[in-house]
Amino acid sequence: KVLILDFGSQYTQLIARRIRELQVYCEIHPYLMPLEQIEAFAPRGIILSGGPRSVYEPGAPLVSREVLELGPPVLGICYGLQLLNHILGGKVSPAASREYGRKNFTISDHQDLFAGLSPHESVWMSHGDHIDEIAPGLEIIGSSDTCPAGAVRDQRRRIFGVQFHPEVKHTPNGGKILANFLFGICGLQPLWNMRSFVEATTQALRQKIGTERVICALSGGVDSSVTAVLLHRAIGDRLTCIFVNNGVLRQGEAEKVVRLFRENYRLNLVYVDASKSFLKLLEGIVDPEEKRRRIGREFIRVFAEEAGKLGQVKYLAQGTLYPDVIESVSFKGPSATIKTHHNVGGLPEVMPLELIEPLRELFKDEVREVGSELGLPEEMIWRHPFPGPGLAIRILGEVTPERLAILRQADAIVLEEMKAAGFYRQVWQAFAVLLPIKTVGVMGDERTYENVIALRVVDSTDAMTADWSRLPYDLLARLANRIINEVKHVNRVVYDISSKPPSTIEWE
Ligand code: XMP
Repeated sequence: KVLILDFGSQYTQLIARRIRELQVYCEIHPYLMPLEQIEAFAPRGIILSGGPRSVYEPGAPLVSREVLELGPPVLGICYGLQLLNHILGGKVSPAASREYGRKNFTISDHQDLFAGLSPHESVWMSHGDHIDEIAPGLEIIGSSDTCPAGAVRDQRRRIFGVQFHPEVKHTPNGGKILANFLFGICGLQPLWNMRSFVEATTQALRQKIGTERVICALSGGVDSSVTAVLLHRAIGDRLTCIFVNNGVLRQGEAEKVVRLFRENYRLNLVYVDASKSFLKLLEGIVDPEEKRRRIGREFIRVFAEEAGKLGQVKYLAQGTLYPDVIESVSFKGPSATIKTHHNVGGLPEVMPLELIEPLRELFKDEVREVGSELGLPEEMIWRHPFPGPGLAIRILGEVTPERLAILRQADAIVLEEMKAAGFYRQVWQAFAVLLPIKTVGVMGDERTYENVIALRVVDSTDAMTADWSRLPYDLLARLANRIINEVKHVNRVVYDISSKPPSTIEWE
């Protein structure tokens, strides 16, 4: 396995994903990881990430020289390269001009890191500092016109560094460089894949759980579904899943989930239809955060009540993923709460159960692959994210049964048409929002005064940033026509063309 020490680059997670794609297991840890912990981790290779700081400024994030001389090969990327040059006695200073974007890179040595590459490669640069004087023991193996020490190496100590970013797609042969480091230099084997993950995790779960029982909150989303099926594979009937219908699910959603898990998987599933109590609590509530709080609280209450009926249970399983676990280094300080997400996150605090998180090492794309290995239907694996507070935060203003019915119908049309046009899998999320205003229209000879539906369709890779999807006009036209013609009490459809930031994906 490989250790990635994080110095705060926006690309650190990308390094990890590239390495996993090459079927090598890796973990990201803050650069402050103590030496004994690094030794205990026993990495076969160490990568120093990029970062926003300068190695020469006071208080810059550094690692000790021992880390470089621990034994496993080291690869420094961007700030990581400058850092190792600095530690080994070289000099780093601000470059005459910031180098940003695609650059031509000349490779002067093809023995190890750059084996199999051309003399000239296109690479992605993003830096303000560069190596001014190279440290003793290092030699230059590549350069660009503005960056003479663009790649360095110490063959004896097996220390390597590149100024560019091999982990981004804009460096077309970046994957080859990482592969050379992992397989050629570190001597690793490509053994990490989702089939072996499923096998190993099933065994480990069996061993850990023994004859105890586990409960799991199933939402029908990818993460909780994969968690449930994986546990079911490991311990069968000693897993009980609880699926709570909170009254603000999509059309037909509850029935679909119940059918899939009861009939196809024969999973022990408790279905609780708590729609009435949730809708009662939402009466008269218009504030989005208050909606979230009430739904979150009621969910925990219902879940705990059902769990209480099951008798002796030791574990609670959750579909936590790796991005939630990584303790990334951020130099921006704590960020403000924009929206209180992860409304089921409060479960472990109120329930005296031990947590089991079988997916906590995985990225989302890996979870999808595990789902595939476990035979989950495509439809489930590629499902868009759906917020815990569901349609309640897509009905602006008060949530009523009438308004829910309108939104459900419109939303179902959106999904149906997106899938039919082959766009569902291309976008991050696609949904309808019911606005709290009415507008005038004309139907036949009659004046109408009815509701407005907003369409929200976005492209994104992680929901942190997003842009509105440039859907074909005829698809947009079909969506609008069908919604206005088929959904009673809607006479207008608008398309949201805001990006995140400054907007958010959801409207509430
Ligand atoms: P925003 O609206 O903040 O959404 O751009 C980012 C992503 O998070 C989802 N989302 C939620 N998920 N509970 C959830 O479980 C919530 O309260 C919640 N609010 C937003 C949203 O659908 C998008 O994928």
